[in-house]
Amino acid sequence: MAERVYVFDTTLRDGEQSPGATMNLDEKIRMARQLETLGVDIIEAGFPIASQGDFEAVQAIAKVVESAQVAGLCRSVSGDIDRCWEAIKEANHPRIHIFLATSEIHMQYKLGKTADEVLAMAEKAVKHAKQYTDNIEFSAEDASRSDWDFLVKVTETVIEAGATVVNIPDTVGYTQPFEYYEMIKYLKDNVKNVDKAIISVHCHNDLGAAVANSLAAVRAGARQVECTILGIGERAGNAALEDLVMTLNTRKELYDVETGIKTEQLFPSCRRLSQIIGMPIPPNKAIVGANAFAHESGVHQDGVIKNRLTYEIMTPASIGRTSNDIVIGKHSGSHAVKNKAIELGYSLDDEQVMILFKAVKDLADKKEHVFDEDVEAMILESVYRRRD
Ligand code: KIV
Ligand code: ZN
Repeated sequence: MAERVYVFDTTLRDGEQSPGATMNLDEKIRMARQLETLGVDIIEAGFPIASQGDFEAVQAIAKVVESAQVAGLCRSVSGDIDRCWEAIKEANHPRIHIFLATSEIHMQYKLGKTADEVLAMAEKAVKHAKQYTDNIEFSAEDASRSDWDFLVKVTETVIEAGATVVNIPDTVGYTQPFEYYEMIKYLKDNVKNVDKAIISVHCHNDLGAAVANSLAAVRAGARQVECTILGIGERAGNAALEDLVMTLNTRKELYDVETGIKTEQLFPSCRRLSQIIGMPIPPNKAIVGANAFAHESGVHQDGVIKNRLTYEIMTPASIGRTSNDIVIGKHSGSHAVKNKAIELGYSLDDEQVMILFKAVKDLADKKEHVFDEDVEAMILESVYRRRD
């Protein structure tokens, strides 16, 4: 049976560190709900010590999310860990995520600490978190530029102290797929108690290799991938969730793993994020860009007409891009309106559909074209507000 790879989504934490991607509390809650519908295993809701706003957002998300784990990030110091716990403790499945840098350059210049001091700090932090929960993740920041044998030591130490997930980030997007594969394999082969924890990866996209690196790590035995919707994140971003999941699914014979992602929610999730942060999906974005299933050349069009598989390796429906052809206007019926809502990522009950249907008709009388953005605004304004 295929092994499970856990999807850890950090759109609301690392993703929000993307310039221009700041979200307010309501927007974060809407996004968290969508991530849960998408089927991610862990939602990293924020960095509670960073600000009062972050604390409140993490706390609110912890209260509304039902089945996914909710993680809060903290540095390896007691005050951060206590604050993180305060924010996530009401979650059904809280996770404390502690990080500490392990590369020579970070230890020397950023932390001003020796390797032994860092090791002791990591152990102390995990033991401190353990009084609150058994669900503890430790991240060795800048792992990909760290000494491999030191990483073995750190990993063994934090597992011994109680960490159940050890994350090996490529913090600066520096590594290459074959190196990262070797590194994860080295840890799997040399960390004594490695089977007591899940090895996780977290890749940045500075050299455009975040997705490829994450996939190489999965080949080497990593069983948690950290990623964001549309790959938003610090600097050039993180590994894009939709690319990772569709690669694992499309090339199952290579990876032989499965995720809990409902792929037909991928497009609605990307659209939702794009609409919230006001950043359009680039037309050539893999999987979800407007051009991802468009065929321009005559040869390609001819092939696709004869058999779509000639030039399409997945179907639009498999990522939830079902009804691009539905144009909403004054002649649309309630069925079309309901389907448009589904395409936009909203599952409405009959009463909500009728409220939306009426709002659409009213607008269509005044306006020639009713765009997706109009329908989404009406869902938020007329359907949800009216119920509150
Ligand atoms: O990039 C990174 O190393 C991080 C850690 C905090 C996991 O975001
Ligand atoms: Zn990061």
